[in-house]
This record gives sequence, C-alpha cells and structure tokens, in this order.
Amino acid sequence: MRITSALVDPALLDLPWSTPLEEWPAQHLVALPQGISRHIVRFVRLGEYVYAFKETRERIAEREYDLLRALERIDFPSVEAVAVVADRQTEDGEPLESVLITRHLQFSLPYRALFSHTLRPETMSRLLDALAALIVRMHLTGFFWGDCSLSNTLFRRDAGAFAAYLVDAETGALHNSLSNGQRGEDLEIARVNIFGEALDLQAAGLLHESIDPEVVCEEVVQRYERLWHEITYEQAIEREARHDIEGRIRRLNELGFDVAEVAMSSIDDGRYLVRPKVVDAGYHTRRLLRLTGLDAEENQARKLLNDLDAYRAESDLTDEQQAAHRWLTEVFEPVVRAVPAHLRRKLEPQELFAQIIEHKWLLSEQAGRDVGMRHAVQSYLADVLVHRPDEQAVLGVEVPSLN
Ligand SMILES: Nc1ncnc2c1ncn2[C@@H]1O[C@H](COP(=O)(O)OP(=O)(O)OP(=O)(O)O)[C@@H](O)[C@H]1O
Ligand SMILES: [Mg+2]
Repeated sequence: MRITSALVDPALLDLPWSTPLEEWPAQHLVALPQGISRHIVRFVRLGEYVYAFKETRERIAEREYDLLRALERIDFPSVEAVAVVADRQTEDGEPLESVLITRHLQFSLPYRALFSHTLRPETMSRLLDALAALIVRMHLTGFFWGDCSLSNTLFRRDAGAFAAYLVDAETGALHNSLSNGQRGEDLEIARVNIFGEALDLQAAGLLHESIDPEVVCEEVVQRYERLWHEITYEQAIEREARHDIEGRIRRLNELGFDVAEVAMSSIDDGRYLVRPKVVDAGYHTRRLLRLTGLDAEENQARKLLNDLDAYRAESDLTDEQQAAHRWLTEVFEPVVRAVPAHLRRKLEPQELFAQIIEHKWLLSEQAGRDVGMRHAVQSYLADVLVHRPDEQAVLGVEVPSLN
C-alpha cells in the first residue's frame, strides 16, 4: 500500500486497506446523501473531518488528484483532493483498486437530496442557474469538464439560490484557454447529460409535471450563452462615453465577476472597441472576506454586505474597516450565538444570517414597520429553523443515503 498525500494523517494507515471499499465495516463510515456514480464511493470519518473515498483505477485516481489540486490552486469551486492510496492488495495478495480521497464538502447536497417529493420548477431553475454559472467560470479559466451533469455537481445553499461545486473531475483538462469549439463541445455534453437526468427523474415520477426535460436541457445552454455574452462581448463606444465602461463593470460586479483590466483599441470612426478582462467570479465573496474574514457564497455575501453597508450608513461610520468590525461583533455574531447549539447543524452561520435578514424583511413588510433583529431572530428560530432537516456533515449524525 502506498499513499500520496498533501496531508499526512497517521489515522489513514489504520484503515482496512486490504478490504474492498464496499465491504468496509460500518464503524469507519458515515452515512451521508450521495449522488449516482459508477464507482464505489464511501464517506469515512478521520478525526474531526469526513472524507469521500472513491475506488478507481490508479491512473484515473492520480489524474483526478492532480487536476483537483490544480483547480484548488486557482481557487475554483470544486472538492479538495487529499490523497491517493495505491498498490492495495487483499490478505491473499489479490490486487485491489486505488482510492482517491477528497474532503467532504460541508453543507453540500447532491441534487437529488435537494427535494423530497417532486423537483419543482423554481428549484430546477435555480439549479440550472448555478450550473450555468459554474460552467462559465470553468470556461473562463480554461477548464474543459467533459462530463458536466447534475450528478457530478454538488450544491450548497446560497441565500435563496444555489452555489455549484464540481465533484467529479475525471474527464476534465486544464488548458490556457478554450476555443469556441471546445466550449460548444462541453455544452453539448452538458445538454445530453442533463436531458438524461431529467428523463430519469420523470420516469421515477420525481419531476414536476410542468417541467419538460427537452426544455430544461436547452435552458442550461441558453443561460450559459447569455452569461458568457455579457462577460465577453466587445463593445464599441465613443471617446467621451467613459460611463458606458463603468456601467458595464458595475453590471459585471453585480453578476459576481471581478474585472482586472479593460482592453481598448481604437477603430476607424473615432470610436473605441472595449473588452473587459474578467478575472474571476466571487466579487462579493472577496469583498466580504476582506472586510470581515467571513467566507460566504456569492449571494450570501451580497446579502451580508447589504446589511453591513446599511449598518455603516445608520451608524455614521466613514471608515469601512471599522464599520465592518463593529457590524461583525455587534450584529452578526450575536445573531449566530442566539441560535441554540442543537439547531446550529441545520445551516451554516452565513446562510442562517442571510435567511434571518430575509425573514426580518418579510416580517417588517407585514407589520408595516421595522420589527427589529431580536424579534426576527426569535420568530425565525421558532417558526422556520426547527422545521428544517440537518445539513451539516456532523460526525455521528445519520442522514439517509440515497443509494
Ligand atoms: N468530496 C465530496 N464531498 C461530498 N460528496 C462527494 C464528494 N466526493 C464524492 N461525493 C459524492 O459521491 C458521488 C459520486 O462521486 P463521483 O461523481 O466522483 O463518482 P464517479 O463514479 O466518478 O461518477 P461517474 O459515474 O460520473 O463517473 C457524488 O455525486 C457525490 O454525491
Ligand atoms: Mg460522477
């Protein structure tokens, strides 16, 4: 047995490596929802973390490990590779497949675990939005996925929407940039896979009757195309129309993309051709992280920043850093602390806070006045949170497996 790993945890050595993953004793395993897959995947607890173990051929495990590490280096939303365990054999000397170990993505759910009875149009629409945005981000960085599907994606809640993460990089390849042909090919694969998945759901009676699989898979392509166009189109502007560029950059920021530079070239009629260079998604995530140290998804970050900006305006603080620090200690932390420990497993703190400010807004709308944070928190805990299932991958917490 041979381990290649970025993190050396001696507990790894004590696992039953000479047994096929499928037969590992329950004491090592954690039951968490998982998507459909060809390979055997099991969740294993090591110390305070949970990891996903996937049994596969050595070459494939190593390739996927390298690719996931490369994606991590460019801060791409994907699961984190931890180790490859190769050269395994049974007690009798029979060779066993290698194992790729990734860290379990906390609070993430496979799409089938996001709905209990039928997949409703609004949920489907949000899933497709998240997936289209993930593919756009991917293509901007030069990553060709080669097997985009709902099953190969994990979703985390993001203030009423979803944030998508890549979970299966087996077929991927990282290039300097992608040609239109490569992008088109990747999208075609996505279209076919999603069509198949929607048909499966339909056959199992899990798809809302108003959803047409044919339309759904077209839609992910259209959403992708719209977003791609908005990010990359070249715009001809007059010399004095600077605000056009500023407007474009603001729109891109709103969509969550950061612009590093703007390339301009003059054209014959005295106008300029402008093309922004989008560096990365996560504009709000980065601003929130910089100001407060909180790591949130894009839409959560947008909501939290709105609250922070309002707090700053109300309290007349000019210094952004100082306002952020006070907001964190006087608003954010007290709200999170108000949630009893046994309810904290239900949602991560950033999502909790985003939902509470949404709830406060709704209550205030109904009452016709600001109901205040204290009341909003109590009402949210009593009327909303208690009814939610647990979503954290907590040690010892059993969540029904979908396999
Ligand atoms: N790090 C992780 N965190 C959470 N869930 C994970 C993780 N790794 C794998 N999973 C779960 O296991 C499932 C299967 O993983 P994966 O898609 O990598 O397997 P596969 O056999 O290569 O799939 P395919 O059949 O598409 O080739 C995923 O859908 C996901 O639900
Ligand atoms: Mg897969």
